Amino acid sequence: MIEERLIEAAFEGRNNAYAPYSEYRVGAALLTENNEIITGCNVENSSYGLCNCAERTAVFKAVSAGAKRFKAIAVAGGKNCCKEQGDETEDYAYPCGACRQVLREFCSPLEFKVIVARSKTDYKVYTLEQLLPDSFGPDSLV
Ligand code: THU
Repeated sequence: MIEERLIEAAFEGRNNAYAPYSEYRVGAALLTENNEIITGCNVENSSYGLCNCAERTAVFKAVSAGAKRFKAIAVAGGKNCCKEQGDETEDYAYPCGACRQVLREFCSPLEFKVIVARSKTDYKVYTLEQLLPDSFGPDSLV
Protein backbone atom coordinates (compact mmCIF):
# COMPACT_ATOMS: atom_id res chain seq x y z
CA MET A 1 0.00 0.00 0.00
CA ILE A 2 1.36 3.40 -0.97
CA GLU A 3 0.53 4.94 2.44
CA GLU A 4 2.75 2.37 4.15
CA ARG A 5 5.61 2.87 1.70
CA LEU A 6 5.45 6.62 2.20
CA ILE A 7 5.37 6.31 5.98
CA GLU A 8 8.36 3.97 5.89
CA ALA A 9 10.23 6.53 3.78
CA ALA A 10 9.27 9.33 6.20
CA PHE A 11 10.76 7.36 9.10
CA GLU A 12 13.89 6.74 7.01
CA GLY A 13 14.11 10.46 6.31
CA ARG A 14 13.78 11.15 10.02
CA ASN A 15 16.98 9.17 10.67
CA ASN A 16 18.86 12.06 9.03
CA ALA A 17 17.14 14.81 11.05
CA TYR A 18 19.57 17.44 12.28
CA ALA A 19 17.80 18.71 15.39
CA PRO A 20 20.34 19.29 18.17
CA TYR A 21 18.46 22.33 19.53
CA SER A 22 14.83 21.25 19.70
CA GLU A 23 15.50 17.49 19.70
CA TYR A 24 12.25 17.30 17.76
CA ARG A 25 13.18 15.04 14.86
CA VAL A 26 10.99 15.03 11.76
CA GLY A 27 11.01 13.07 8.52
CA ALA A 28 8.84 13.59 5.47
CA ALA A 29 8.28 11.65 2.26
CA LEU A 30 6.72 13.28 -0.76
CA LEU A 31 5.04 11.32 -3.57
CA THR A 32 5.49 12.96 -6.97
CA GLU A 33 3.00 12.74 -9.84
CA ASN A 34 5.37 10.13 -11.37
CA ASN A 35 5.20 8.04 -8.21
CA GLU A 36 8.73 8.86 -7.12
CA ILE A 37 9.31 9.20 -3.39
CA ILE A 38 11.48 12.08 -2.19
CA THR A 39 12.40 12.29 1.47
CA GLY A 40 13.33 15.20 3.71
CA CYS A 41 14.24 15.91 7.32
CA ASN A 42 14.37 18.98 9.50
CA VAL A 43 17.68 20.82 9.41
CA GLU A 44 18.26 23.14 12.35
CA ASN A 45 20.78 25.92 12.77
CA SER A 46 22.50 27.60 15.73
CA SER A 47 20.87 30.76 14.39
CA TYR A 48 17.44 29.36 15.29
CA GLY A 49 15.39 31.32 12.75
CA LEU A 50 17.13 29.46 9.94
CA CYS A 51 15.77 26.03 10.88
CA ASN A 52 14.10 24.26 7.98
CA CYS A 53 11.22 21.83 8.38
CA ALA A 54 11.28 18.29 6.98
CA GLU A 55 8.34 18.94 4.65
CA ARG A 56 9.95 21.97 3.06
CA THR A 57 13.26 20.14 2.73
CA ALA A 58 11.42 17.44 0.76
CA VAL A 59 9.56 19.96 -1.42
CA PHE A 60 12.70 21.96 -2.21
CA LYS A 61 14.67 18.79 -2.96
CA ALA A 62 11.93 17.62 -5.31
CA VAL A 63 11.49 20.93 -7.11
CA SER A 64 15.24 21.36 -7.53
CA ALA A 65 15.33 17.87 -9.09
CA GLY A 66 12.63 18.84 -11.60
CA ALA A 67 9.40 17.54 -9.99
CA LYS A 68 6.64 20.12 -9.55
CA ARG A 69 3.38 18.23 -8.94
CA PHE A 70 2.77 16.03 -5.94
CA LYS A 71 0.11 13.57 -4.81
CA ALA A 72 0.83 13.01 -1.12
CA ILE A 73 3.21 13.53 1.77
CA ALA A 74 3.81 11.44 4.88
CA VAL A 75 5.20 13.10 8.01
CA ALA A 76 6.63 11.41 11.09
CA GLY A 77 8.32 13.13 13.98
CA GLY A 78 8.56 13.72 17.65
CA LYS A 79 10.60 14.80 20.61
CA ASN A 80 13.69 12.76 21.50
CA CYS A 81 12.82 9.95 19.11
CA CYS A 82 15.66 8.17 17.39
CA LYS A 83 16.38 5.10 15.30
CA GLU A 84 17.00 2.93 18.36
CA GLN A 85 13.44 3.55 19.55
CA GLY A 86 12.11 2.11 16.32
CA ASP A 87 9.73 3.53 13.76
CA GLU A 88 7.19 4.88 16.21
CA THR A 89 6.47 8.30 17.70
CA GLU A 90 4.31 9.38 20.64
CA ASP A 91 2.30 11.95 18.73
CA TYR A 92 1.23 12.78 15.22
CA ALA A 93 3.49 15.48 13.76
CA TYR A 94 1.36 17.95 11.82
CA PRO A 95 2.90 20.21 9.15
CA CYS A 96 3.33 23.79 10.35
CA GLY A 97 1.51 26.64 8.64
CA ALA A 98 4.51 27.64 6.54
CA CYS A 99 4.87 24.10 5.18
CA ARG A 100 1.16 23.87 4.41
CA GLN A 101 1.45 27.03 2.32
CA VAL A 102 4.59 25.79 0.53
CA LEU A 103 2.82 22.51 -0.29
CA ARG A 104 -0.17 24.51 -1.60
CA GLU A 105 2.04 25.99 -4.33
CA PHE A 106 2.57 22.57 -5.96
CA CYS A 107 -0.49 20.52 -4.95
CA SER A 108 -4.21 20.36 -5.54
CA PRO A 109 -5.87 21.18 -2.19
CA LEU A 110 -8.73 18.73 -2.71
CA GLU A 111 -6.62 15.85 -4.04
CA PHE A 112 -3.32 16.12 -2.19
CA LYS A 113 -3.15 13.83 0.85
CA VAL A 114 -1.28 14.63 4.05
CA ILE A 115 -0.52 11.53 6.10
CA VAL A 116 0.57 12.08 9.69
CA ALA A 117 1.98 8.88 11.13
CA ARG A 118 2.84 7.57 14.57
CA SER A 119 3.81 4.24 13.02
CA LYS A 120 3.28 2.28 9.82
CA THR A 121 -0.12 1.13 11.03
CA ASP A 122 -1.19 4.14 13.12
CA TYR A 123 -1.76 7.17 10.91
CA LYS A 124 -4.33 9.78 9.87
CA VAL A 125 -5.01 11.06 6.38
CA TYR A 126 -6.18 14.57 5.52
CA THR A 127 -6.58 16.50 2.32
CA LEU A 128 -4.55 19.70 2.10
CA GLU A 129 -7.89 21.53 1.92
CA GLN A 130 -8.73 20.25 5.40
CA LEU A 131 -5.44 21.53 6.83
CA LEU A 132 -5.38 24.79 4.85
CA PRO A 133 -8.95 25.78 3.98
CA ASP A 134 -9.80 28.65 1.64
CA SER A 135 -6.15 29.00 0.72
CA PHE A 136 -4.21 31.50 -1.32
CA GLY A 137 -2.35 29.92 -4.23
CA PRO A 138 -0.98 30.42 -7.74
CA ASP A 139 -4.52 30.57 -9.18
CA SER A 140 -5.31 33.56 -6.95
CA LEU A 141 -2.90 35.64 -9.02
CA VAL A 142 -4.34 34.78 -12.45
N1 THU B 1 9.39 20.98 12.22
C1 THU B 1 9.26 20.27 11.07
O1 THU B 1 10.24 19.68 10.57
N2 THU B 1 8.06 20.25 10.45
C2 THU B 1 6.95 20.91 10.90
O2 THU B 1 5.97 20.98 10.19
C3 THU B 1 6.97 21.52 12.22
C4 THU B 1 8.30 21.70 12.84
C5 THU B 1 10.71 21.05 12.86
C6 THU B 1 11.34 22.41 12.81
C7 THU B 1 12.27 22.35 14.00
O3 THU B 1 13.50 21.78 13.58
C8 THU B 1 11.59 21.39 14.96
O4 THU B 1 10.61 20.72 14.21
C9 THU B 1 10.93 22.08 16.14
O5 THU B 1 10.11 23.11 15.74
